[in-house]
Amino acid sequence: MVDQKIYTASTTAPVNIAVIKYWGKRDTALNLPTNSSLSVTLSQKDLRTHTTASCSASFESDTLHLNGELQNISGPRQTACFRELRSLRAALEAADPSLPKLSTYKLHIVSENNFPTAAGLASSAAGFAALVRAIADLYELPQNPTELSRIARQGSGSACRSLFGGYVAWEQGEKIDGSDSLAVEIAPASHWPDMKAAILVVSAAKKGVSSTSGMQATVATSSLFPHRARVVVPQRMEEMIKAIKERDFETFADLTMKDSNSFHSVCLDTSPPIFYMNDVSKAAIRVVEELNRVSGRKIAAYTFDAGPNAVIYYLEKDEALVLGVLKGGLEHVPGFAVSGTAAIPEEYDASFLEPLKEGITRVILTGVGEGPISVKESLVGEDGLLLKK
Ligand code: DP6
Repeated sequence: MVDQKIYTASTTAPVNIAVIKYWGKRDTALNLPTNSSLSVTLSQKDLRTHTTASCSASFESDTLHLNGELQNISGPRQTACFRELRSLRAALEAADPSLPKLSTYKLHIVSENNFPTAAGLASSAAGFAALVRAIADLYELPQNPTELSRIARQGSGSACRSLFGGYVAWEQGEKIDGSDSLAVEIAPASHWPDMKAAILVVSAAKKGVSSTSGMQATVATSSLFPHRARVVVPQRMEEMIKAIKERDFETFADLTMKDSNSFHSVCLDTSPPIFYMNDVSKAAIRVVEELNRVSGRKIAAYTFDAGPNAVIYYLEKDEALVLGVLKGGLEHVPGFAVSGTAAIPEEYDASFLEPLKEGITRVILTGVGEGPISVKESLVGEDGLLLKK
């Protein structure tokens, strides 16, 4: 009898923002990096991808809908994820012939983000992590998150880090086949739960140079880049892991800001140069540097990915002061309805806040959070098609 059943599994997956940046590939097909990296997973209350994976003998082709729109999945990244996950399922089916042959069925994937796609908010990381986790759950694969990170990495490098919550390293590995280029948990969110993040959205428009092509150009043309990859980052990784284990925010902040600036320096050193930060981004840097100066210690740390948005990390105990200063430039921005903030210190140069008033379109106040969570809510109806809202 033909199996008419529609099998489904749903998950949500988080965004992660690196504090030691991945920038540069030694293998573009497998997304093998030139250096290790480290990130903080952000809370899914504010930023997440929700994905349902379904399969059935009755489906005619593999499909992926993102935010209601059919996506092209013929590219090598999606193909690699589907192929690898199917082959792990096929191995289970070979070992136990009583299992339904899900590996031979077509997949329907439906995904929704609760934030603007491709606004420089690491949507591809959450997207591929959710895709891999949902299909792995659908196939009832026994592989752990580190083993699955090998697959998510092939979707998008930074996605491998979104399979864990908390503080996550992606070890670059050495092998040609990438089997040792994997994500590992450095510490769970509960180890240092008071880590907060304010995301200042400078522009929700699609970004300029994609990270994929930008990093290739840097590897090919920057003379600063080899020093960053070989000398600077390996040392910083060790220091950052120690800072996280010891909950040493000042060192964490110092390394985070230095590494963001190092990454943007190799972008500027690329030919032709790549500019991800704009004048508003630079104003956000000044706002944080001034805050740290008047505080006499590092209480906040900025970091920027391949776009102009600022992510500012700080600890809960300093929230009243950090948000009190930011309020001076962001009070009327959507997402910034906060109370109980401290006054801006008298010696603070508030002129630094001026460019933020016009330049920031949205603020997301969030913090460290958990890894992918299996959920009941399905985005696929009983007929195997995406649910219309
Ligand atoms: C600046 O993971 O988007 O955010 O592997 O080509 O998909 P691909 O690149 P991607 O690059 C992210 C770069 C970064 C730094 C980071 O997240 O570590």
